[in-house]
Amino acid sequence: MSNSKGKIAILTSGGDAPGMNAAIRAVVRSGLSRGYEVYGIVHGYNGILNHEIKKLSFEDVSEKIQHGGTFLFTARSSEFRPMEGKMKAAKICKEIGIEHLVVIGGDGSFTGAKNLSKFGVNIIGLPGTIDLDIAYTEYTIGFDTAVNTAMEAIDKLRETSNSHDRCSVVEVMGRSAGYIALWCGIANGAEQILLPEKFDYDYVKLIDQIKKNKEVGKTHQIIVNAEGVGHSSELAEMIENATGIETRATILGHVQRGGTPTARDRVYASIMGGYAVKIIDEGKKNRLVGFKNGKVYDVDIMEAFSMTKTIDDFDYEVALELASRPS
Ligand code: F6P
Repeated sequence: MSNSKGKIAILTSGGDAPGMNAAIRAVVRSGLSRGYEVYGIVHGYNGILNHEIKKLSFEDVSEKIQHGGTFLFTARSSEFRPMEGKMKAAKICKEIGIEHLVVIGGDGSFTGAKNLSKFGVNIIGLPGTIDLDIAYTEYTIGFDTAVNTAMEAIDKLRETSNSHDRCSVVEVMGRSAGYIALWCGIANGAEQILLPEKFDYDYVKLIDQIKKNKEVGKTHQIIVNAEGVGHSSELAEMIENATGIETRATILGHVQRGGTPTARDRVYASIMGGYAVKIIDEGKKNRLVGFKNGKVYDVDIMEAFSMTKTIDDFDYEVALELASRPS
């Protein structure tokens, strides 16, 4: 007879995020330490449906914490999306004896997880997205690394923009959330910060401000534009035509999703991974793990879905105050 307390499986789903490997490592090692068998599911939910499931040992997660990406690979699964897909996945989990499934992903992955939980699989979610756009948590795995990557790139852009007396429109990721843009806007001292949550699409006002900035002596300008606002090339052309200032657009794109995770992403992902196993051990069911007031915590998956968050008004106000000189 086996002494195992049961089987925990883990997968990563949706867009990858630096720090996911640290979270996987933590779940595997905490799980094994507490007497569980731990299984890695390859390629997200597709991996359940395609039986890409492998038992993981303590050594299997060695030398992983320092790497970006996810060594379990990730996917967005169209087969899993309909209810039949989830029923099939739950049936496979039952057949293999997987009682607990740790899902590392963003909102889309959690929607799938929430529905899978209705078929009897105990879901524990860890927030993994560079976008920071998950309401129940103030931290998501990968955000810190992504912001630092973008910040360093924008520092470089500022140097070349300065040399050429140019304006640079730099687009950072965030399909529907402006957190990366806000953070870079502040960290890089941008002259303009365009966020999907806040931008009023008043381009006349925007161009007026760019002209004013030039009049008060700014020889170059950085406009951080969130992906959710987008159209950066068109915007650059519009600015150049309207102001006469040579303007270039740079779309940072997927480089923001890769790279060595920062200490914060490694540590927070590890804490959440360990916490996920702790609450499994306590018998908790269908919970999402996150950070609230700087402390790791867990919340019911249904309750988490009723929460909303947006860019803090004061944070945005400060960003704008720092961006332009009073006239
Ligand atoms: O991970 C989140 C995110 O980076 C969004 O900001 C972006 O729109 C999206 O993923 C793009 O992901 P993909 O190209 O993998 O579909």
